[in-house]
Amino acid sequence: MKAAITATGRYFPAREVPNSYFYDDLGLDTNDEWIVSRTGIETRRLADPSKGETCSFMATQAARACLADAGLEAGDLDAIVVATVTPDQPLPSVACFTQAALGAKGFAFDLVAACSGFVYGLDVCAAMVESGRAKRVMFIGADHMSSILDFADRNTCILFGDAAGAVLIEQVPDDHPGTIHRSLLRADGTGAKHLQIPAGGGRLPIDEGILAERMHKVKQEGRVVFRHAVSSIVKVVRQYFEEEQLDVEDVALFIPHQANRRIIEAAADRLRVPRDKTVITIDRFANTTAASIPTALDLAREEGRVKVGDRLLFATFGAGFTWGAQTITWGV
Ligand code: ACO
Repeated sequence: MKAAITATGRYFPAREVPNSYFYDDLGLDTNDEWIVSRTGIETRRLADPSKGETCSFMATQAARACLADAGLEAGDLDAIVVATVTPDQPLPSVACFTQAALGAKGFAFDLVAACSGFVYGLDVCAAMVESGRAKRVMFIGADHMSSILDFADRNTCILFGDAAGAVLIEQVPDDHPGTIHRSLLRADGTGAKHLQIPAGGGRLPIDEGILAERMHKVKQEGRVVFRHAVSSIVKVVRQYFEEEQLDVEDVALFIPHQANRRIIEAAADRLRVPRDKTVITIDRFANTTAASIPTALDLAREEGRVKVGDRLLFATFGAGFTWGAQTITWGV
């Protein structure tokens, strides 16, 4: 049996936050020109938890859209898996809250791989489906990044948005046009210090000192991460192409993780992927971590950019460090 993505869905919060919010409303020393030229970000959506807009809420909405796309009910799912670094609360998982909200029955768990969460999780879910352990998995990349950002730190707070993107992964017969192909996943834990939330776990439990120093919020050495991101994405995709005997011409659409427009364009140029085959959503939605690839896939489908038989390339880099490449053939 093989596995394929047979439906997609997405959710973005209604609240749109343009770049001007950071200098006009928050009074940060930044400006539109810097943000657009250094990141490609023009605006983003941020969740409003006072209206119940949490990670599991966004995941549930994306899953509902995905179920509607598939013409299925929540009861048809064997499992719900959520890739996230921003759970509603430390315990239990976002997947369990999502399962309850959907009224689903299957098993449910979260997976942590930061911006690589979608590519890592797609591989895990595809393996469960190929092995027969589950026939239908709702896999959601969901992140409520505004809940872990320091809105006094101009280096990080301008970079992220909130969203959820869902894909349905199903067992399909061998002659079905859709396939989730193998992935190439990588990690280097020695890079942890360059992008992290230092406190809030067992090492540095939250106390007043931690809160005062904002150690429970995202810290990033942007320049170091940028350098690693471009070279790692290029290297992993080249190795993947070689191992899969693929050529850049075989790729109909490149859907990279949306961390920075300059990272995406530098990687695409070095891989010789043309601009019209590269999906960019960071201008409208910023970096939505595990949600960036599935929401970009759903948007690309809506814009008519995905056809049956198309080979789609996903590539990512994120905290950990974690990175990887994966392709699927679209089949519905
Ligand atoms: N507005 C104005 N100036 C700023 C801002 C801002 N918002 N942020 C930083 N600056 C300043 C810096 O302080 C620095 O000033 P200095 O030279 O006086 O020290 C200057 O701008 C240049 O800073 P750089 O860090 O060199 O800027 P760079 O061009 O590298 O862009 C950025 C910074 C956008 C963060 C970039 O490095 C980046 O995108 N990094 C990678 C992000 C990423 O891929 N993250 C991984 C995924 S996230 C995840 O896994 C959760």
